[in-house]
Amino acid sequence: MQKTEIQEFAARISGTQSKAADTRVKAIVDRVLVDIFTVIEEFDVKPEEFWSALSYLTELGRSNEYGLLAAGLGIEHFFDVRLDEKEAAAGIEAGGTPRTIEGPLYVGGAPVAIGEARLDTDPDDGEILFVDGQVTDTTGRPLAGATVEVWHANTKGNYSFFDKTQSAFNLRRTIKTDAEGRYRFRSIMPSGYGCPPAGPTQQLLDRLGRHGQRPAHIHFMVSADGYRQLTTQINIDGDAYLHDDFAFATRDGLVPAVTHHTDPSALKDRSVDRPFATITFDFALPHAVAGVPATLIDRPRAQVG
Ligand code: BEZ
Ligand code: FE
Repeated sequence: MQKTEIQEFAARISGTQSKAADTRVKAIVDRVLVDIFTVIEEFDVKPEEFWSALSYLTELGRSNEYGLLAAGLGIEHFFDVRLDEKEAAAGIEAGGTPRTIEGPLYVGGAPVAIGEARLDTDPDDGEILFVDGQVTDTTGRPLAGATVEVWHANTKGNYSFFDKTQSAFNLRRTIKTDAEGRYRFRSIMPSGYGCPPAGPTQQLLDRLGRHGQRPAHIHFMVSADGYRQLTTQINIDGDAYLHDDFAFATRDGLVPAVTHHTDPSALKDRSVDRPFATITFDFALPHAVAGVPATLIDRPRAQVG
């Protein structure tokens, strides 16, 4: 088909000539159809290839991997970059902690603790990890009573709730900052996540010649009244995939130093019986501004309780 024929056909299908119904949906369906028809023309896509693509998408849904593929194709990161640009254009104050993708493995309803928490409820002989920091505004003023939601994988790279061998909320907590805006927690050093090797996301990544690995990381959602909510992650320095994340989520400013401690007196001070690591990471939140797109995306999330 010629370009004009494609455009006319897509317009008939999407009903762009009539005023009725949803004009935004019509315009987007129209563009998507023109793009699909153009790809079929340009690459001479065979009907067999098209039906195989539909079967792939059916399997993607059956495996609940749409969120995984969206991350692996960089679409979740793309939305982060767009939000950065919108904030800059709207004059949102600089100096806030960089955002990065939420990923598909958040679960709402984690136990709430004041000031400090222990995240590892299941036995795991990974390296003991202590993380602490302060939540402030962009001038360094502490934000008491801020909410720090934290979640991460175990040493096998798996997340509780999705991995049914772990207890509910293992490695997930909500911590309210103390009077000085501080939070702290004890946990175990996570390992990086890898896409299910037999799943449809990895299947496509294989065809692209890409791996499906993420560097070890810890997720945070930080919020305080009057400030812009922050969704972000810190990456564990030294991980082989630190700058080769299949989900494109590593960003400058999100790789804090990790200190490993073996000194017996340090072990005694922390009341632990084996070497441990520490990370300090502070969060800075810009003030909320009316009329700027929200940072917390309205999307389906698992919720327990
Ligand atoms: C994760 O945060 O572990 C994750 C992010 C994107 C895709 C898959 C996993
Ligand atoms: Fe993760």
